[in-house]
Amino acid sequence: PAAPPLQEKDCRSITPPYAKLLATLQDVRKVLPPGTKLTLAEKILYSHVRNADDLAGAKGLSDIRGQRYLKLAPDRVAMQDASAQMALLQFMSCGLPSCAVPASIHCDHLIQAQSGASADLARSIVTNQEIFDFLESAAKKYGIEFWKPGSGIIHQTVLEQYAAPGLLMLGTDSHTPNAGGLGMLAIGVGGADAVDALSGTPWELKAPQVLGVKLTGELNGWTSPKDLILHLAGRLTVKGGTGRIIEYFGPGVERQSCTGLATIANMGAEVGATTSTFPYSANMRAYLEATGRAPVARAADAAATAGFLKADEGAEYDQVIEINLSDLEPHLNGPFTPDLATPLSKFAEFVTANGWKDELSSALIGSCTNSSYEDMSRVASIAAQAQAQGLKSKVPFLVTPGSELIRATIERDGIQEKLEAVGATVLANACGPCIGQWDRKDKQGEENAILTSFNRNFKSRNDGNAKTLNLLASPELVTAKAFAGTLSFNPMTDSIDTPNGPFKFSPPHGTTLPERGFTPGDLSFSPSPSPVPVPEQEIVISPTSQRLEILEPFSSPFPADGSRMELPVMKCLMRVRGKCTTDHISAAGPWLKYKGHLSNISENTLITAVNDQGGAVNVAFDEQGQETIPNVMKRYKAAGQPWMLVVDENYGEGSAREHAALQPRFYGCNMIVARSFARIHETNLKKQGVLPVWFADKADYANISAMDTVETEGLDALLAGDVNAQVTLRVTKPDGQVLHIPTKHTMSVDQLNWLRAGSALNHIAQSAA
Ligand code: F3S
Repeated sequence: PAAPPLQEKDCRSITPPYAKLLATLQDVRKVLPPGTKLTLAEKILYSHVRNADDLAGAKGLSDIRGQRYLKLAPDRVAMQDASAQMALLQFMSCGLPSCAVPASIHCDHLIQAQSGASADLARSIVTNQEIFDFLESAAKKYGIEFWKPGSGIIHQTVLEQYAAPGLLMLGTDSHTPNAGGLGMLAIGVGGADAVDALSGTPWELKAPQVLGVKLTGELNGWTSPKDLILHLAGRLTVKGGTGRIIEYFGPGVERQSCTGLATIANMGAEVGATTSTFPYSANMRAYLEATGRAPVARAADAAATAGFLKADEGAEYDQVIEINLSDLEPHLNGPFTPDLATPLSKFAEFVTANGWKDELSSALIGSCTNSSYEDMSRVASIAAQAQAQGLKSKVPFLVTPGSELIRATIERDGIQEKLEAVGATVLANACGPCIGQWDRKDKQGEENAILTSFNRNFKSRNDGNAKTLNLLASPELVTAKAFAGTLSFNPMTDSIDTPNGPFKFSPPHGTTLPERGFTPGDLSFSPSPSPVPVPEQEIVISPTSQRLEILEPFSSPFPADGSRMELPVMKCLMRVRGKCTTDHISAAGPWLKYKGHLSNISENTLITAVNDQGGAVNVAFDEQGQETIPNVMKRYKAAGQPWMLVVDENYGEGSAREHAALQPRFYGCNMIVARSFARIHETNLKKQGVLPVWFADKADYANISAMDTVETEGLDALLAGDVNAQVTLRVTKPDGQVLHIPTKHTMSVDQLNWLRAGSALNHIAQSAA
C-alpha cells in the first residue's frame, strides 16, 4: 500500500515558549547599557538566562563576550545511543525521578554497515540488544522519547521533529549544531552537561564571541552549501571557531534551503565553533510546514514580528567574513583533517603533488551532514545521467539516509531506484561508516582513497585503516567521481568514455522539498510524543555485563577537613605531542561497544597518542619501565599515585566525547596542562573533576617530562574564591632540580565547586541532598 502522507502533528511540546523568552530578553536589555544592539546568537542566549541580573553592570558586549559565564536554561536535550549510555548512567546517580526538560534518545551509532539496510539493522539489534534495552528502560522511567534503531540519525531526526527557531538545545554529540539550520542554538556537550539540563541545574557557558559571516550572491551549478562550509573550514582552520558562535546573515542566507543551512551548521563543529545559526527565513517556515509543524511556524512568525529571531540592525560582530556565493567553487577537504581545503579545479594537481595513486576506492554519501531530500534529489540527477549512458559506479557506492522520513520519501519518489540502478547500496538509517561502523572487507592495511559527503576525516575514523585517505566533498561531487573511479576527475571539465563517445555531466539539479510532501514511512519507528515517566520502571543492567557498568562516584582530591586545598602531589605521566583529538584520547570504532562500561573502555585511553619523549605511539614509562599508555595509567592507579598530563595545542578537539575526560580521571588523572584546549573537552575535564590549566608561556611545554613530580601552588587561593589567582606548577625533576611554571585557567566559581566536590555530578548530588 502507498505510504500515507505526513500529518500535521501536535506541536505543543515542541513550540518554543516565545512569550517567556521575549520577556527574559526584555529583562536582560534593561540591565544592559541603553541602545545595545544584539546579534541573533545573543538574543537566543540571553532569552535563556536564568537570571537577567547576572548580566548587570556590563559596560557593553565586550564586557560579556569571552568574559562572563552565562547560566542558562536549555529547552531540550537530545542524546545518541553511544553517548546516552554515560549521560543516563550519570543522570541515574543524581537520584532524580524524571527529567526537568523534554529529551530524546536516538539509536544511530551502534548500527554496523555490512551488506545493506535490513540485514545490517537486524544483526546490529541482536549484537547491541542489552544497550538498546537499557536505553529504552531508562527512557521509559524518566519520560524520554526513544527513537529506536533504524529510525534515523540523531541530527536529521532532531531537525525534522524538534528543532525550532530561537530554541536552545543541548545534544550529546558534537554535530548537534546541525539544528542551527532552523535558526536556533544547538550545542554539542558531554553527558555531564546534559545532566545539568536534565536535572534542572543551570548550564554554564562562557559567553561566546560572535563571528559574523555575510553571504552574498547565489550558489550555482556544481556548488552546494557543503562547499561553503568546506571553504570556510579552510579559511578558519580547526581552531578558528573556538569560543565563538558563527552567525550567518545577508541575502545569501535567504536563498538557501533549511537543510542546506543545516549542512553548514553541522560542519561548524569542524572549526571548533560553539555552534552556528541563521536568521529565521521563508525556507525555514516552508521546512517546518513540510515536516508537519505549521503551528511552530506560525508561532515563529509572531516571534519574528516581535523582533526575535534575527539580529538587531547594526549588531556588532567580533569579526565579519564576507563570502560571495556566486564565486564559490566546489571543494574537497582532507585527508586527515577537515580544514585542508582544495578547490576542485586544483585537486588533480594536489593528487599528483602528493604522489597518490589516482584511484578512488569507495564513494559514500548521506550521513547527518548531507542526506536531505535536496541532497538526494541532486545526487539522483547525476545518477540518472550516468544510467542513461549505461554507466555504473566503478567503486562501492554506499548511501546512508538520515532518517526513515527521508528513506521512505526517496523510495516513494523513485530516487532510491535511480541510485540502486547505478550500483548503490542503501544502508540503514544510521551513522554507519561515518562513525567507523563499517565492516569494510577490502583495502585493509593498504593506502587507498575514499570520498565521502560526511563531516569528519580523522585518521582511521571510517574503516579503522590509518592508511585510508578520507576526502570530504558534496554528495553530488562524490557521486560524479564514483563513475569516473579516479580522484582527479573534474565533472565540470572532464568527460568519461562510453561506447557512445565521451560523456560530460550536466550540473546537478534537485528540489529542496518533495513536491508530494514527505511520507513518514514505517510509523513503528516513531515514539509516542511527550511520554509520562514511569517511576516504577526498572533500569535494565546485568551485573555481569561487559558493556554496562553502574558508575562509582569519583572521590574529591581534597581532604574532607579542608586541611589541604592544593591538588595531591602528582607524577607527570607523559607529554603528548601534536594533534590529540578526542578520537586519539578515546578511540571509536570497535571501542564504541564499551561506552557504558568505564572500566572496559578505559583500556583504549590515548592509545593513538604520540609521546613527545621518543616520538612513539602508545608508549609511556614510569620507574618500572616502558609500557602501553593505559598500562602505565593502571600502574599509577594501583599504587594510589595521582598523575597529570602535559599536552599540546587544541587538546581534545573534534568531539563532545566525554569518555575522553572520564577515562583519564578514572585512572587517577588530576590535572592536564595544555598549550591550549578545545572548548567542549576542557569543560568535560572540569565536569569530571580534572583541573585543566594552560601554560602562560607555551614554551614551558617542553619543561615538564615523564616522572617529574608536579605540585600546584595558588590553587588554594583560587578555591577560596579569588578567580584571578594564578596557579603555579612546582616541578621537581628526578635529579632534584626545581622549576616554577606559571599557568592560566578558565575556571569559574561554579566550576571550582565541581573540582572541590570531585566532579560536577557529586556537586549536583550534594546540592540535591
Ligand atoms: Fe553520526 Fe553524523 Fe556523527 S552520521 S557519527 S552523528 S557525524
